[in-house]
Amino acid sequence: MTRGVFITFEGADGCGKTTQIELLKKYLDEKKIKNIQTREPGATELGVELRKILLHYEKPVSDVAETFLYLADRAQHIEFEIKPMLDDGYIILCDRFIDSTVSYQGYARKQDINQIKKLNEIATKGLKPDLTIVFDIESEVAQKRLQGEKDRLEKEGLEFHKALRFGYLELAKEEPNRIKVINANDTIENIHKKVIELISRYI
Ligand code: TMP
Repeated sequence: MTRGVFITFEGADGCGKTTQIELLKKYLDEKKIKNIQTREPGATELGVELRKILLHYEKPVSDVAETFLYLADRAQHIEFEIKPMLDDGYIILCDRFIDSTVSYQGYARKQDINQIKKLNEIATKGLKPDLTIVFDIESEVAQKRLQGEKDRLEKEGLEFHKALRFGYLELAKEEPNRIKVINANDTIENIHKKVIELISRYI
């Protein structure tokens, strides 16, 4: 059995990545390529509980506590979902992963970036995605796209969202082989084509 492929999708809230993951899943299903869609936080049973706290807990949450909750979700996800599915040959399409923690808890919450990277390594036991696609969009445009009731992170202001966008772009500069940036201020069809181009060498 050959190992699968681990692809992660990143970007600010409102960047359109979930729509793109669903389109890609449909594309792979039609081609009968074994794949699975997952997400962070909230892919495991424990993760579902952590997601409720992370997105909707109403009292103040310390930045460090927030970081560890995301990491707890990730450790559970890696051990019981991602690692076994990779070993089983799946193409894994994961909505958010390590780069969200560096960008949100590191750059946007202004915590030590290197420490967050080390904590990520512990949570993942060193497993990194084969490919990460960042959907880049001006923070003002992304914020306008968010409709309905906002969760705890979405409620943060423009400065927070600009800092996390900067974080994603810095990460892409540091790891150009793994992290590819797509302009998300484009039509759904054009973005989908670019996603297919990027993943084609892995399928
Ligand atoms: P989403 O499922 O709508 O993307 O919501 C998840 C939220 O959690 C989103 O606002 C980004 C945030 N997040 C972090 O702040 N750090 C993380 O490590 C992850 C995975 C998500």
